[in-house]
Amino acid sequence: MDMQSLARSITGRAPGPIPDVATMGRIFSNPRMPLLLALSKGVVEPTYRAAFLSSAAGSGVLRWLSTRPCDVASLAEKLEVPHEDRSRLRDWLEVGVRLGDLRRREGCYTLRSLSAKALAKADNDALAAALEEVMRFHLPVLLNGPRMLREGRRFSLSDQDGAVIARASLVVRPLVEEAISSVLDRGTPLRLLEVGCGSGVYVKHAAELNPRLTALAVDLQAEVADEAAKNMVEWGLTDRVETRQADLRDLSLQPQFDLVTLHNNIYYFPESERVAVLRKARSLLTPGGRLLLTSACRGGNIGMEVLNLWFRHADFGGALPREDELVAQLERAGFSDVRTNRVVPGEQFRAFTASNTHPTQV
Ligand SMILES: C[S@@+](CC[C@H](N)C(=O)[O-])C[C@H]1O[C@@H](n2cnc3c(N)ncnc32)[C@H](O)[C@@H]1O
Repeated sequence: MDMQSLARSITGRAPGPIPDVATMGRIFSNPRMPLLLALSKGVVEPTYRAAFLSSAAGSGVLRWLSTRPCDVASLAEKLEVPHEDRSRLRDWLEVGVRLGDLRRREGCYTLRSLSAKALAKADNDALAAALEEVMRFHLPVLLNGPRMLREGRRFSLSDQDGAVIARASLVVRPLVEEAISSVLDRGTPLRLLEVGCGSGVYVKHAAELNPRLTALAVDLQAEVADEAAKNMVEWGLTDRVETRQADLRDLSLQPQFDLVTLHNNIYYFPESERVAVLRKARSLLTPGGRLLLTSACRGGNIGMEVLNLWFRHADFGGALPREDELVAQLERAGFSDVRTNRVVPGEQFRAFTASNTHPTQV
């Protein structure tokens, strides 16, 4: 018997004959029972809910149910579930009801919990993607960390889903946009290089702040760069923004940028390479050009610590930076006037700015 059903049986919610007093006494005097109940309620059920909500959001179920009640048949059609698997889909939906996230009335499902309703909203897409990131990428490192270390296995970039990560990264969008707003010169023509552009929203933000800005947006992952390029078309920015799949380390360009930005990706570079990477970024700046780098740093919330753990188990990249280490690396890369700004008090999210005042030797 699994923990959930055992817990259910002793709380008397399952139908059936009422056990006699002696049986109840034996069950409740078992010292493992309180622990079992505590684990079930406090650990197992929230994990099931997180997984269910993540899947329901990612598959589109929450969005559909937020517009109108749907029965199994219509959901099966939307999800392209074959006829013979409809009863399994029903079982999955019933678990959602049991967890309290869905409600069933007259054979139709609707959203019940606040979390389900919130994750269904397009405005909260970054949160839904962040939940998916936790489920698909953070859980594996927690589940498999020691075994991976014993077997010498590492995650690779292909273990990530670039599209999900690009969406999930936008949970810190207000912080990054604040950092961009505080450094961006708005009055003069400005050439921007954005490294690891993800969806491209930060290039869009910069372009909106400075109408004379032109930019090159690059991302290492082809599918991410393609998505950013599509977004530039949708945002009407293709005459001002070129989007390319490229690795910063291989960019062969003259120094031409007034601003180079790296948002949420310094940990994609091994710590031993960071000085060289920053020096490369500096080599692309005009004299007096500036760098803006934003990143979660070590010592932040538990999500950031697990992200750090993932990158520590990867065959590329490295630990989240420590503020003082990154400052030192920027200085060793030849930047001057290196400053850090804690964008939100109490959070370990930092904006680093630095200037290129010396000629670069790469
Ligand atoms: C966590 S995502 C952040 C995306 C975006 N900057 C944001 O904050 O929303 C990191 C991105 O950096 C890109 N990246 C990593 N290493 C890179 C490199 N060497 N050159 C260009 N892009 C890189 C990855 O492909 C990924 O899309």
